[in-house]
Parts: sequence; C-alpha cells; structure tokens
Amino acid sequence: MPAARPRGRPPKNKPMSANAFPQGFLWGAATAAYQVEGAVHEDGRGETIWDRFCRVPGAIHGGDTGDVACDHYHRWRDDVENMRDLRLSAYRFSTAWARVFPQGKGKPNRKGLDFYEALVDGLLAAGIQPALTLYHWDLPQALQDAGGWTSRDTASWFAEYASCLYTHLGDRVKTWMTLNEPWVSAFAGHWQGVHAPGLKDFGTAVQAAHVLLHAHALAVSAFRELGARDARIGIALDLHQVYPWSDGVSDQEAARRCDGHVNRWFLDPVFKGTYPKDMLDLYARHHAAPHEHTGDAEALAAHPMDFLGVNYYFPQRVYASDAGGLLGYESGRLEDRQRTEMDWEVHPDGLYDLLLRLKGDYGDPAIFITENGAAFKDQRVEKGQVQDDDRIGYLDGHIRAARRAIERGVKLQGYFLWSLLDNFEWSFGYRQRFGITHVDFATQARTWKKSAGWYQRVIATNGGALA
Ligand code: FCB
Repeated sequence: MPAARPRGRPPKNKPMSANAFPQGFLWGAATAAYQVEGAVHEDGRGETIWDRFCRVPGAIHGGDTGDVACDHYHRWRDDVENMRDLRLSAYRFSTAWARVFPQGKGKPNRKGLDFYEALVDGLLAAGIQPALTLYHWDLPQALQDAGGWTSRDTASWFAEYASCLYTHLGDRVKTWMTLNEPWVSAFAGHWQGVHAPGLKDFGTAVQAAHVLLHAHALAVSAFRELGARDARIGIALDLHQVYPWSDGVSDQEAARRCDGHVNRWFLDPVFKGTYPKDMLDLYARHHAAPHEHTGDAEALAAHPMDFLGVNYYFPQRVYASDAGGLLGYESGRLEDRQRTEMDWEVHPDGLYDLLLRLKGDYGDPAIFITENGAAFKDQRVEKGQVQDDDRIGYLDGHIRAARRAIERGVKLQGYFLWSLLDNFEWSFGYRQRFGITHVDFATQARTWKKSAGWYQRVIATNGGALA
C-alpha cells in the first residue's frame, strides 16, 4: 500500500517567481540503510556493527533495533511511489556495505546488488534521481573484528566496495557520497561510546577519523578511474555554526576549538589536504594525534570532490570550561529558543551563516544540503493526519535561509529533507520521529503528515510556495 494522503490533484508547476530557486535545483528527501531497510537476515546480508550494538543492554532507547525498521527492503516500491507523489526530484539513500559484501570484502553478494539495482531502476522510472551514500555508519561486523576504522585495511576494503558499486550502478547513479558524517562515526562511536562500536577513547576516535578520511580519499580516487564522466562525488559532513557564548577572549577561543573539532577537522583535509594546525597541536598535547602515513595528505589534495554535502540541524553556543576535558569547552543553551524533541535549538540563521562561511573559507564550493529536518512529538492528529506545524515551521525557516544564501551567491544545488519516513533514530530507537511520512511501526502503514503536502507544494513551485 502506498502512503495514504489527502485526495485531490497535485498542484501544477507554477512559473518561477523572482525569488525562486535556480532551475534544476534538486528537491529531495533522505534516509539511510540501517534506519529504514530492516530485513537484516535476508538474502545473505552480513552482520553490521549496528546489529551488534543494538544488542548491548541499555545502548538503545527501549531496546529497539533496526531488525525490521520501516521494512523498506520489502516495501521500497510503495516508498518510491510515495516519493513520486511528493514530486521529489532526488532521493538520498545509503547502500549497506554488508548486503553487498557480507564479510566486508571478498566476493560480492549478487542479491545485495540486485536490491540496489532494482531500487535505482525504480527511482529512475519514477523520474527521481538517485543520490547514493556509500557509508552511513553500518560497518560490516567482520571488519570491526579486524580493527574497524582504526585499521587502514578498512579503508582499502571500502575503496573496493565503492569500486564495485561504481561498476554496477555508475551508469545510472550520477550523485555519490562517500561517507555520511565521519565525525559521528569517529567520535560518537569511538569516544562518546553512544554509537556503534561503542568505544570510549579520544585517541582511538582521532585515529578512526583519520582512517575514514583516508577511505574517502581512496574512494574519490577510484571514482575518478571508474565513475562516469557526467557523475559527481562528494562527502556529507555534519557541520555546526559555532557561536561564542560571549565576547570574552576565552569564549572566543573555546568557539574556535569547537569549530576546529567538529568542522575544520574534516573540512580542511577534504578541501586542502591538511589538518588544522591548532587542533593538531592540541590533540598532540594530549597524545591523541593521528598516525599519518606519508602520502595521506597528498592523496586527499590530489582528488578534490565535486561538491560538499552539508548536514545541518542546529548551532553550537560555546563557552570555555575546564569541565570540557581536553577540548576545554561546553555548549550552553539559550532558554528563550524553540527546541526540537531532540532538544536541538531551532536556528535557521545558523544554516545561512554556515553556508556563507563555507563559501568564503573553502573556495566557493558546489554544495548540497544533504540533511536538514526535525523531530517533534507529532501528537496533534486531525482526520487521521499528523498536524506537524512545528516541523513545517522548522523546514520553512531553513529553506528560506538556504534561499537567502543562494541570493548571496552560495552555489547551493539541492536540498534533501531528513527524513522521508519516520525511522530508526539510532540510540533513540523509534522514539524520535523525523519523517514527513508517518510510519505506524506495528502495521508499517505510511501516512502523509501535513508537512508532506506542504513540501509537495514547495517542490511543485520550485520554492515559490515559501514566498
Ligand atoms: C544525522 C544522521 C541521520 C539522522 C539525523 C537525525 O546525524 O546522519 O542518520 O539520524 O541525524
């Protein structure tokens, strides 16, 4: 069954208004394999670090797992139909490495490849461009057992997996992303311990970040050899606009460290091939500098990306604090601000500031917003439809901020809303709902929230409906 939605004809495309988005701007929605697919034991899929982490007592809210999730593995046709009804021009999804290589390497699993080929063909038949992320956190467990992201071999296996997908799907997929949010893989997974694989050591996390960046470089390099000429590749980074809590020097410096840790530690390598010196010095003082090999920096610099993917949700407001450990800062909260159910501050200007900063500091790159969205309680239901006006408000504010950035010359080429569906929100389980399509996890019924109809109108008018 496709998603239930109000009857009536979808709005016709209106002519572009003066303040509309550029022609060809991609209007998309995003998901990730482990969060939606389910079917974790089917068709030869191997175990991943998230399958394992979900079994750790207390790791996931309510003991939830991604075993079934949105059952997208079986319902993808309906989900594509839903996307067509939404009039999406693009869909960002990730491929599960362990479906394609159950042990992370070796012989590819034909059934895993078949699934993604069918999905891509279904999208194209529906007039939707596939935008494929190669790694959204679900490392094959077999590779974790061999050292995971702290081992350079993992980067080599990643490049082989990437090459396999370029070869099988490169004729049809024109937008590729290597990694989703390597900060989260590295630091939430190896330092904070709140994500798989659940480790808690800063130096290990820095090393994991380095191997992830190395994997990115190898995958971009392989793409230049195997990818189609008319295709593009980038990375999706979780970026925060960082504001100092006060004008005081120590808070300004704290903000610079936060920016160095969450933003520049990834932006500088992928754009310039170098780590930011201030952070390298700081990590080294705490015996946590990465083990760099000769040629790592050159490999990054030698294979520039075609675009930057920006995942933006909320800003950081930072003050100096000894309680902040080696980074020496903590994040404060402005009490008068609206916050989402994740307790994230709603601040669309942060997106605007961030986009302008990226343009200025990183050579005016082509940018896609690869994730942006909000979890709210979604309790107000009328005539069977979630009346999620707060989500509409969030999205509206951020898309307007994106438009202002375009007006200031930022080369923004698309916007992917997070998320198409309510889904498995990592350590929060199914409690946090980000979807514009409501999912009843008992029946798997999909129903449009009010925001879905709103987004459909925004797309149909190329952003004109915001004005
Ligand atoms: C991002 C993740 C995505 C989703 C959103 C809410 O950090 O990339 O999978 O969990 O947050």
